[in-house]
Amino acid sequence: MTRRSLPATLALAFLYATAAHAQGAPDGQKISAQGANGAPACITCHGAKGEGNPAAGFPQLAGMGGKYLAEQLEAMANGSRVSPVMAATAKALDPAQRLAVAQYYAALPSPLDIDGLAATALRPVPPADTGAWLATRGAWDKNVPACNQCHGPGGIGVGDNFPGLAGQPAAYIAGQLRAWRQGQRPPGPLGLMPAVATRLTDAEIDAVSAYYAGLPKAASLLASQAQPAAGAKQ
Ligand code: HEC
Ligand code: HEC
Repeated sequence: MTRRSLPATLALAFLYATAAHAQGAPDGQKISAQGANGAPACITCHGAKGEGNPAAGFPQLAGMGGKYLAEQLEAMANGSRVSPVMAATAKALDPAQRLAVAQYYAALPSPLDIDGLAATALRPVPPADTGAWLATRGAWDKNVPACNQCHGPGGIGVGDNFPGLAGQPAAYIAGQLRAWRQGQRPPGPLGLMPAVATRLTDAEIDAVSAYYAGLPKAASLLASQAQPAAGAKQ
């Protein structure tokens, strides 16, 4: 067995460190703005601040759990989550790039108006308002808990396992619920969402999706969305 002197070991460690630095961990922000390995820039569709594009049905990514986003990219890359739009993009990135870009989006500030959400959550809900009722009370006659019981007050999301729903485009939310009903999205933790989605009627899916899409977003975001979608031009 060879023994190296301490200075030699240090020099080696230094070399490894510099090599790692030169190679560089993937830069999540750069991937979002420029794409990588032929994958297009994420901002084109998901917005300059990860705020999504409600008109086009592109989901917001900012402030969601990093582990959750990385898992979704993985699922879209391996095809277990069927996404004609995202599959090639997710596949083009390697696992380290997927993780880096997921962590970049997780660290961006959520585009939601927290005070507005809190005020909405306190307002009484008429039972005839199917979407609001499902979100805040559930449908216990068929064992569907209130969505907010898992997705957090106001649907703001909880940690890495329960993604936020507030402010997501209605078409996106409805599309995901239908994907679970059709087995086109992996069951996720404990198979909770297939159990929920298969118990909802089409009308309930549309109502609850519209409810979340209509929850208040930060004023700054509304201003930026009032202009033609920045990404659409690119
Ligand atoms: C051409 C538009 C487009 C581009 C470019 C794009 N996305 Fe998407 N992305 C979508 C759409 C649409 C969905 C919704 C998935 C679906 O409906 O199948 C989505 C979904 C996602 C999701 C899942 C979100 C969730 O809440 O589960 C993640 C994560 C994601 N994209 C990350 C990225 C990243 C990272 C990039 C850049 C490398 C990127 N996207 C580029 C359109 C796009
Ligand atoms: C018992 C807990 C639970 C309840 C109740 C619940 N969800 Fe979920 N939901 C989850 C989990 C866990 C996930 C993450 C699944 C994954 O990782 O793929 C999720 C994910 C979702 C997503 C995907 C979000 C995205 O960014 O792609 C949508 C949409 C959704 N839920 C809608 C609803 C709606 C609407 C209701 C109420 C009718 C509801 N959920 C009730 C646990 C729950």
